[in-house]
This record gives sequence, structure tokens and C-alpha cells, in this order.
Amino acid sequence: MRSTTITTLGLAVLGFIGSASAESTSAIFVAGYDGSVRTVNLKEQNGKFSLTEVNKTDGCKTNPTWLSLEAEQQRLWCLDEGWVTGNGSINTFDVEEGGVLRHTQRRSVSAGPVQSKFLNRGSKLAVAQFGGPPDQGIRGGLTVHDISENGTMTGPVHNLTFDALATPGPKPGQDVPRGHGVTLDPSGKWMVITDYGADKLRTYSIANDGTFSLGVEMETPAGSAPRHAVFSRGCGGPKGTHPYLFVLSENANTVTTYNVSYKNDVLQLSTPSRVIDTFGGNATQETLDKAKAGEIQITRDNRFIVVTNRLDESFPGSDSIATYRINTDGSLTFVQLAPVGGISPRHFAVNRAGDKVLVSITKTSKIAVLSRDKVTGKIGEALATLDIDTKPAAGGEAAGIPAAIWYE
Ligand SMILES: *[C@@H]1O[C@H](CO)[C@@H](O)[C@H](O)[C@H]1NC(C)=O
Ligand SMILES: *[C@@H]1O[C@H](CO)[C@@H](O)[C@H](O)[C@H]1NC(C)=O
Ligand SMILES: *[C@@H]1O[C@H](CO)[C@@H](O)[C@H](O)[C@H]1NC(C)=O
Ligand SMILES: *[C@@H]1O[C@H](CO)[C@@H](O)[C@H](O)[C@H]1NC(C)=O
Ligand SMILES: *[C@@H]1O[C@H](CO)[C@@H](O)[C@H](O)[C@H]1NC(C)=O
Ligand SMILES: *[C@@H]1O[C@H](CO)[C@@H](O)[C@H](O)[C@H]1NC(C)=O
Repeated sequence: MRSTTITTLGLAVLGFIGSASAESTSAIFVAGYDGSVRTVNLKEQNGKFSLTEVNKTDGCKTNPTWLSLEAEQQRLWCLDEGWVTGNGSINTFDVEEGGVLRHTQRRSVSAGPVQSKFLNRGSKLAVAQFGGPPDQGIRGGLTVHDISENGTMTGPVHNLTFDALATPGPKPGQDVPRGHGVTLDPSGKWMVITDYGADKLRTYSIANDGTFSLGVEMETPAGSAPRHAVFSRGCGGPKGTHPYLFVLSENANTVTTYNVSYKNDVLQLSTPSRVIDTFGGNATQETLDKAKAGEIQITRDNRFIVVTNRLDESFPGSDSIATYRINTDGSLTFVQLAPVGGISPRHFAVNRAGDKVLVSITKTSKIAVLSRDKVTGKIGEALATLDIDTKPAAGGEAAGIPAAIWYE
């Protein structure tokens, strides 16, 4: 993102709170698989928290799935996964007074855009494409889009569709290669794409003209289905400690650490030697078989890895969120497994202050704001929750809430 300053951001938020009272309000954007992006306010008054929906838009088409923010520009980006229509899209909104989202542009992409990352200081957007539904043969990959200074997507779509698989992987959905995640190394010069279908990490260098060159590729265990990944910036170690890559695998329900180095400016990943399950390290086979790891993030202070577990029901009526402390050798020490208050937490976001975690609970169709101790990393009680009605008009299962982010 182009340099973001807290000062302009604070003003932007205050701009629509517009009140001098002691209470404070933070805005949240919520993607709903029902076709809505909602603006929700978290209000704190005398230590009590409440969540209220204040606006919504249908501008991100049928299946809003992934949100990212250019806060300084007051611009929200929304990926429409498009599983209702078969085609995805990328949408932008201007954030206006009161958190109202004004749709500004849409660009169609191939099937299943699911995660995006700004490259080259916000002048490009890389989008991981999951591809079509299982057994339809529509391959996934990556698209990259040039962004002009005013936020307009310009020029052609740069497509990177991965080669068809010689043999399908062992798990459902592994019939074709699938870009599920895209992340950027600390140098900003390399992308890592987690290929859920091919059980592979694919690395690409990024040239200024938007072309890519394939770097090293790393196979992950068959059927593990790498979903998302994050880099550390050196890991709490002494200055100059090099970074690690942490990969979350959806089927294996593991976090794997790769030691990152550069040989002649080419990103290298070590053979993974540190693998821990997403439940703290001692999960039963039964739990590993039924669970589907959801999201991984590294906290802003670079000290903790946090992951969500879906469909594990580690707590009565609730799936879980796990926290690990990052050791200087890249291994993870388990801190805690906490309930999220519902089923299928697909995404979460720790706030800038580090004292709250916003969890999107897809199947239960709600969001929860959990307290967090930023020193110990422990996640505590729910400060506020909001049930969101995402039932399709025809009835049946709720469409659900795949993602939510803080407006900060
Ligand atoms: C969103 O806010 C606009 C501007 O205040 C208002 O006209 C509109 O009715 C609101 N929409 C919803 C769904 O609340
Ligand atoms: C999806 O996009 C393709 C290519 O642009 C187009 O041919 C097709 O009609 C679209 N499908 C739907 C369901 O809109
Ligand atoms: C934004 O920038 C693009 C490319 O420079 C230009 O074509 C377009 O007209 C601009 N749009 C607005 C609204 O200024
Ligand atoms: C990328 O793919 C989309 C949809 O499949 C297509 O419309 C577009 O022309 C492609 N772009 C390039 C540069 O090949
Ligand atoms: C896992 O089991 C080992 C051996 O029983 C034990 O030492 C360790 O504390 C357990 N770890 C967790 C996270 O429960
Ligand atoms: C990581 O790789 C670097 C460079 O190859 C090496 O110096 C370092 O010891 C490795 N660290 C670990 C924990 O393996």
C-alpha cells in the first residue's frame, strides 16, 4: 500500500463519527456471501462494546469474499468470488462519510478470486484465483492488475494460469492447480503463491512491467492443500536475523516453517523442518480429518502466529483460534486454543492496537470481536458479537460471512 499514516487515518475515522463524546467508534467492513458488503460500527461506551450495522452495498456482485483497504486513500477493494455466476470480479469503493461505500469500478476476472495483495507499493494488485468448482476443469492461478495513482485498474489483465496437473491430488478439489493465496516477501520482490490443488508453493519475482519469472517451487505433502502463507520480518531475533515463511495447509491442518534466504537475489526456501498442527501440536487424527484450517496471520509486532480452525468444534458449539509464539529458530511454541463462538471462522483480523480480534464466522453467519492480550498473545472473551442475516431468499443454509476487516 502507498504509505499509510495513522494521522490521516484517524481523521478519516473521526470524520464520520463526528462526535466529541467520551465514547469511541471503530468501523468494520464485512463481506457476505449473500452479495452484500456491510459497514458495521463497533462502539465502546464505559467499557461496554456493541456492534451495529450502519450501511450495506450490493456493489461487490454476488459473492464478496476478500476485502483489503488502502486506508489513506479511503478506498476499499473487494473480490467477488463469483461462485453463483461462474465468473469472479474485482471491485473498488470509495469510503464516504458514515462509512458509506460508493462503488467506483469493477473488472471481471476468471473463476474464484480469493485473496489479493498489493505489489510495488500499491501500483499493482495480485489476485490468487482458485479456479472453477471441483471436476469442471477450470484451472486456477494468479492475475495481476496495474493500478494508476487514482486507484483505477488500467491496462490488460496479466494472467498466470498454472499448467494442468499430470495426476490429480488425493483430496477433493485437487483436480486442477488452484491459487489460494498470494503473499509478498519482506523485500517486496518475490511473491509466494500457495497452490491448494497442486500441493505446491510457487515463487515468482516481480518485474516493474508486471511480468513474472518463476523462481523455486516447493512441493508440500500430498493432499495437504496449502491455503495461505505469511512471512515474518526476522522473527524477534537480533537485527539481521533473516525471515521465515509460515504456510497454513487446509487439509493437513498444519503450520509449516520454511527458512528464507536469497542466493544471487533468488528467494530460497529451506526444506521444512518445523511442522506443528493447528491445535497446538497434539491433535487427534479424528480432529485432523474433520477440520479445515482457515486463516493465518502474523501479528504486527512480529511475535505471534495466529490461525483459525474450521469445523473442529474443539469447544461446545464452537470452532477455534490458535496462537503460537515465534521462536528465533522459526519454530512455534503453542500459547493457547480459544473458542470463537461459532462454526467455520474463515477469516480474522487483529486490530492495529493488537488488543482485539475480529473473527468472521461463516457458517454461523456472524462476526465476533474478541479481546486479546497483546503481551501474552492470549485471546479472551467476546466483547461483542453481531448475527448477520445472510439467508438466501429461497431459504436453506445461510450464505455466511467469509471475511471482515477493520477500517484503520
Ligand atoms: C446508506 O447510507 C446512505 C447515505 O446516508 C443512505 O442513503 C442509504 O439509505 C443507506 N443504506 C443502507 C442500506 O443503510
Ligand atoms: C464468464 O466469462 C466468460 C469470459 O469472459 C464468458 O464467456 C462467460 O459467458 C461468463 N460466464 C458467465 C456465467 O457470466
Ligand atoms: C485515473 O487515472 C487513469 C490513468 O491515468 C485515467 O485514465 C483516468 O481518467 C483517471 N480517472 C479519474 C476519475 O481521474
Ligand atoms: C486474462 O483472462 C481473462 C479471463 O479469462 C481474459 O478476459 C483476458 O483477456 C486475459 N488477459 C490476458 C492478458 O491474457
Ligand atoms: C503434547 O503432548 C506432550 C507429551 O504428552 C506434552 O508434553 C505437551 O505439553 C503437549 N502439548 C500440548 C500443546 O498440549
Ligand atoms: C536459516 O538459513 C540461514 C541461511 O542459510 C542459516 O544461516 C540459518 O542458520 C538458518 N536458520 C535455521 C534456524 O535453520
